[in-house]
Parts: sequence; C-alpha cells; structure tokens
Amino acid sequence: MYRQKTNCRACGNSNLTEVYDLGVQPLANNFCTADQESAGHAPLKVMFCQECTNAQLSVVVDPNIIYRNYPYVTSKSETMRIHFGKLWDEICKECKPKTMVEIGSNDGLFLEYCLSRGVNRVIGVDPAQNLQSTVRCKEEMDRDLICSLFDANVASYIAAKHPAIDLVVARHVFCHIDDWESFICNLELLSNPDTLVAIEVPYVKDMLNGFEFDTIYHEHLNYMSIRAMAALLKDTMFHLHDIVRFDIHGGAIVMMLRRNDYSESPLLSVERFLELESVTLDSWKEFKSGANFKISAMKEMVNSLQDPNTVCGFGASAKSTVWINACGFSVKQIKFICDCTPEKQGKFSPGSNIPILPESALLDLKPDAAVMFAWNFKDEIIKKNQEFINRGGRFLIP
Ligand code: TMP
Ligand code: ZN
Repeated sequence: MYRQKTNCRACGNSNLTEVYDLGVQPLANNFCTADQESAGHAPLKVMFCQECTNAQLSVVVDPNIIYRNYPYVTSKSETMRIHFGKLWDEICKECKPKTMVEIGSNDGLFLEYCLSRGVNRVIGVDPAQNLQSTVRCKEEMDRDLICSLFDANVASYIAAKHPAIDLVVARHVFCHIDDWESFICNLELLSNPDTLVAIEVPYVKDMLNGFEFDTIYHEHLNYMSIRAMAALLKDTMFHLHDIVRFDIHGGAIVMMLRRNDYSESPLLSVERFLELESVTLDSWKEFKSGANFKISAMKEMVNSLQDPNTVCGFGASAKSTVWINACGFSVKQIKFICDCTPEKQGKFSPGSNIPILPESALLDLKPDAAVMFAWNFKDEIIKKNQEFINRGGRFLIP
C-alpha cells in the first residue's frame, strides 16, 4: 500500500530530520459506505531537509489507491470563484492563453472558468475515473479530457496533438506527486519557449504560521517552500519566473515557471520571496508545539460541550479526518458531519466512522454546536447558516 521515501524529493539529500509525527492514520479522503472496505492505514510523519528546506512525508501511498476513485471535488463556492478570478488576472499579466493544459483538472471547474474567459481549447488530465462522468459537456470540440495520471505518454500525446500550448496549470497537485523529476521532464515534452507554467501549492510558511497541522495527510507528500522549488529546478529547463501569494486554503502560492530559453528575465518577486523565506528546524519545532496546543484545546472544548448538548462537524474535508483522528473523537463526541457533497453523504469519516449527512441536518437534528472543519470557507458557511446561529447554534472554529 505504501513505501518509504528516504531522499529529499527536491535536492536528493538523504539526511532528513523527523519534525512532526501524527502516528499511523487512515487515508483522509477514504470515505466509505457501511459495506465498503477501507483502504487501510499508513504512517503520517513529516521529514525535513535542512539543505533545501523541503518537508515531505516519510512514506508514499500508492497513488492508484488514492486517486482512482477520488471524492474530492473542487468547491463551487463563492470563495473559490473569487480565487479563480484573481488567479486568472495574474496569468493574464504574463500571457493571453488560447490553448491550455490543466494537470489534475478534477471535475473541470477551472477549465470551464478559463473557457468562459476566452481560452479556445482546454486539455484536462486527471486520473479519477469517478469524476469523468461529472465533467460537463466533455464531447464538445473545445475540450479534451484525459483520464490518467500525468506521465510521459500523456505529455507526448498532448504535444503531438497540440504543438502550441500557451499555459499549463497545476493547482494543488504538485505536492501530491512523488516523482518531481519526471514531472519536470514531462513538462518539457509539452512546452515551447513561450509556455507559462503556473503551479499552485499550499505555502509551507502559511501552514507553519497558522499551525495548520490538518493539512498534513497522505495525499500531501510535500510541504512546499520556494527554496525547495529552486533546488528542484536547478539544472532543468525551467526556472522560477514569478511568485504570487493567495489566501485560499489557508495560504497558497502560485509559482510561475518559464523555460530557460524564454526571452524575458525573471521578475523581482522571486528574489524577494527567496530573501524573506526562512524555514528552519526551529520553525517546525514551534509548529509542533502550536499544533499540539490546538489539538488539546479542541479536545477540551468539545468534551466540555457534551451531554445534554450535542456537537457535530461542518465540512467532511480531508482536514476533518485529520482533526478527528488527532483528537481521538468518535460518534460519542461528534454525532455527525454535515457536508454539501452528494458523493460524501451516507458515508463515514475514515477512522472514526462518524456519519456524513447533508447540510440540512444542521437544522433538522438541532445540534448545539458545530466544529467548523471547513475553516477555509468559514465566512461563507457562517453567512449561509444564519438560521442555525439565530436558533442558538454555535460554530466552533479551530
Ligand atoms: P476542502 O477544504 O477540502 O475543499 O473541503 C471542504 C468541504 O466542505 C467539502 O467537502 C465541501 C464542504 N462544504 C460544505 O459542506 N458546505 C459549504 O458551504 C462549503 C463551502 C463547503
Ligand atoms: Zn532537499
């Protein structure tokens, strides 16, 4: 099911230091029905490279287990739509894409957005078979959706069919990939000197500053620094051209890459980010004590609110699985989790077997409090659930 990873994925260093250990945990998105067998457990431990400041998990879970049937769908929330707009504006400062590829295109939401903004042809690559049926209008002439992991075959196929790719986007997928060297080689295969590559990842500085331990799960093989990306790109055909910071998902960066044969120089942002970026063993030590404090505080709060009160969760995100298992909660403490995703409803949270119900359960079952596991959408969720609050319900925000 998994194998050990002992060398730094970015620079090759084999002398890595353990910085955070969540024990042996279930796969965070492995929501199952009562009669489905779970995929199992694997160690969840972060190792730090002092050479390039990359942090990565000590193991790699077989991607076929995680991604063939993948319940995560890009949120159709207002928060996400606003983010797409900002990302699009940043891309347009660099190029006016006519043909683009999205790696990890999920259910096609961002590609659809790009089509609405004037891109003529989009090519999506995603291995999740269950999402293929939800991709809208896939027969149309302006899109090409490939159900596969992004490998050399796929890259060559795209390059042969579409020789002029203006833009490659990879949103929240790069840190899910084990073999970065092959990924960069495959980018070489489908690019030309003017191709812009935009890679969006959660930024490790934001994760450390916010003690966001709940973003550590088996899909996230890496906790990305810009220095680590620079180390990876050394001696490749690409370099960092620009960096933009966003507040989506608890803090993310978009690293814009250009080929070394691109005509223009990198922007000053790259140098500035590298100068300001300091990620050390001490940063991880502080993170560990902050995260442990958050876990104790959550346990105390939820335990203090029990009988006759009832507590539920809001948002069956992967983050919710990490929180629940880190706190050791079961249905005794968290009666159910509300979630708007039909694919998750009727299933159970991995490890704890807490049932997942539609959002309407918040009013129908009248819990006294709801732990906001989808804290990255908290403003929107609070706005949407005023009736729960008006009736005396409380959101507990991690
Ligand atoms: P994510 O942070 O991994 O995208 O997960 C957020 C989860 O929260 C996802 O399963 C959808 C759910 N959600 C709701 O149930 N209601 C909402 O209003 C929003 C914004 C998200
Ligand atoms: Zn390294």
